Amino acid sequence: MSKGDLISEGARSRVYRWGATDVVKILDVGISQEEAQREAEATRVAQSAGLPVPMVRDVIAIEGAWCLVFEYVVGQPLDEYAAENPGLMQEMAMRMASLHQAVHKVKAPQLRTVDEWLRTRIMGLELPEDALKDRALRTLDDLEDGDTLLHCDLHPNNLLVDDRGELYLIDWCNACAGHPWADVMRSYLILHLAKTSLPRDMLWLPEGFKTFYIENYLDDDTDLLPRVMKWLLPVALARMSEGFVHEEAELHKLLRGQEDM
Ligand SMILES: Nc1ncnc2c1ncn2[C@@H]1O[C@H](COP(=O)(O)OP(=O)(O)OP(=O)(O)O)[C@@H](O)[C@H]1O
Ligand SMILES: [Mg+2]
Repeated sequence: MSKGDLISEGARSRVYRWGATDVVKILDVGISQEEAQREAEATRVAQSAGLPVPMVRDVIAIEGAWCLVFEYVVGQPLDEYAAENPGLMQEMAMRMASLHQAVHKVKAPQLRTVDEWLRTRIMGLELPEDALKDRALRTLDDLEDGDTLLHCDLHPNNLLVDDRGELYLIDWCNACAGHPWADVMRSYLILHLAKTSLPRDMLWLPEGFKTFYIENYLDDDTDLLPRVMKWLLPVALARMSEGFVHEEAELHKLLRGQEDM
């Protein structure tokens, strides 16, 4: 089969139509077969648990690049959908929170732990001094473990809305097992950081998502927020290792406690 139209070009992959019913996600050359298999495995774990995810058909190689073949979801990323339908933003943020709660009802002891994933990223980070990294690693020593399924990249651009308004959760390449607060912290942080890349007149969108997402995930129990925020230091440092240059100043402010979320 040959690839069809390009659907999306991301930081580490491109997604194309693949026949009438599928898409192919072509990972950048250099991304290992193990990483491709890991994304496939996590997607299968989610699917077996009854979560709304596209079916994984295969892991294949095309011209030296590892690729995942998925069922094609005829839909639109939720960030685009919400921008076009501002009146639905609050409802969509609530549904994103419910879906995240559903993910966190699933056990996935077979996946790598979020502790290991965060530690690897933090240790690989180049910073002028090691104090912050040491503090983040010590923080992780004290945070709770777990064997809950974590998506670790749940934000509106990784949710597709189909023509019936159903949500599908894609892009399981970061999935781990661990404590749900790690995953909630990551979603909350990513929504906060959206302001570093969007024009001023679009900031209502991630800000609204951020507020309604966290309130609904925590079922309005605001006492829980400080427990989620205990994950900020390791999660924010690990985020820095992803190399999104436009986010760096905001991440430094958050890490120095100069900015609230
Ligand atoms: N199964 C699918 N059906 C329809 N469209 C899809 C599907 N999977 C991915 N896409 C499209 O491709 C885009 C990118 O997919 P995905 O989020 O998996 O990759 P990415 O964000 O580029 O990932 P990475 O961070 O791994 O580089 C999605 O926003 C969506 O538009
Ligand atoms: Mg994505």
